[in-house]
Amino acid sequence: MELRVSGLHKSFSSASEGERVDALIDVSFVVPEGRFVCVIGPSGCGKTTLLRMISGLEKPDRGTILLGDREITGPVREVGYIFQEPVLLPWRTIVRNVEFGLEMAGMAKQERREKALAALELVELRDFADFYPKEISGGMKQKAALAMALVVEPKVLLMDEPFVSLDCQTRNYMQAAFLGVWEKTRKTVIFVTHNVEEAVFLGDEIICLTSRPAEVGKRLRVGIPHPRDRTSPELNLIRKEILLFLAAEREKTRSVNGMFTHVHDLSEV
Ligand SMILES: Nc1ncnc2c1ncn2[C@@H]1O[C@H](COP(=O)(O)OP(=O)(O)OP(=O)(O)O)[C@@H](O)[C@H]1O
Ligand SMILES: [Mg+2]
Repeated sequence: MELRVSGLHKSFSSASEGERVDALIDVSFVVPEGRFVCVIGPSGCGKTTLLRMISGLEKPDRGTILLGDREITGPVREVGYIFQEPVLLPWRTIVRNVEFGLEMAGMAKQERREKALAALELVELRDFADFYPKEISGGMKQKAALAMALVVEPKVLLMDEPFVSLDCQTRNYMQAAFLGVWEKTRKTVIFVTHNVEEAVFLGDEIICLTSRPAEVGKRLRVGIPHPRDRTSPELNLIRKEILLFLAAEREKTRSVNGMFTHVHDLSEV
């Protein structure tokens, strides 16, 4: 099922700036079924706002989001959302957390237990089914959150910097583990990240947003099959192109603010 985002516009009223502030202006793109798209952009440009609108949690001021031929106007089961910090109920075991969405949908106990255990198997967390969230690591919590999202069988997975709070090695491991799950399920994924290396390691396609107000500044296809070598010259070339784009966006903001207009650095944002 194709996801079609057309002409999204969103502004917020800002107490400090005393008027409405545009977060996104005219954001449009199409994601074919099964594609893994990474969204990258300067801090505060509107990435989370974009995901919240696609999930139906936030309404755009203008524009439409179509999943297949159905317009998204509120939260739907077909769209799963994975947050930066995994949201798990501390008083429930991992398997009972994973069952939660199915329980809310009224599924019978045995059926939902079987589905929850299968989802935990998929993310390689079956052995921790009876642990409580406080007893497992940060990476495992994100795996549990992934199992929670997958168990209700969404068509699209939205992920907002899901690995940002993990240490570098766990993050690398989680990226590879997530790719393994994605290759088995082939969900459509929209993955927001600040990390250019993460985007080029994971994505089939990378959408680069401009500084706020965000619009699509650049779209890149990464035609390199998985598993990818993080240090390969091909990935580095794409990485460099994105870093240059982000540096130019930062420069634009600085010029507007009249600050540091001579600085050209390529450090990751
Ligand atoms: N509920 C809200 N009320 C007012 N302003 C908001 C609200 N949500 C977002 N904004 C503003 O919209 C802009 C985009 O915010 P958003 O959180 O989408 O950015 P982001 O790209 O996800 O940032 P980050 O990279 O820091 O996660 C910011 O200027 C933010 O202050
Ligand atoms: Mg954000």
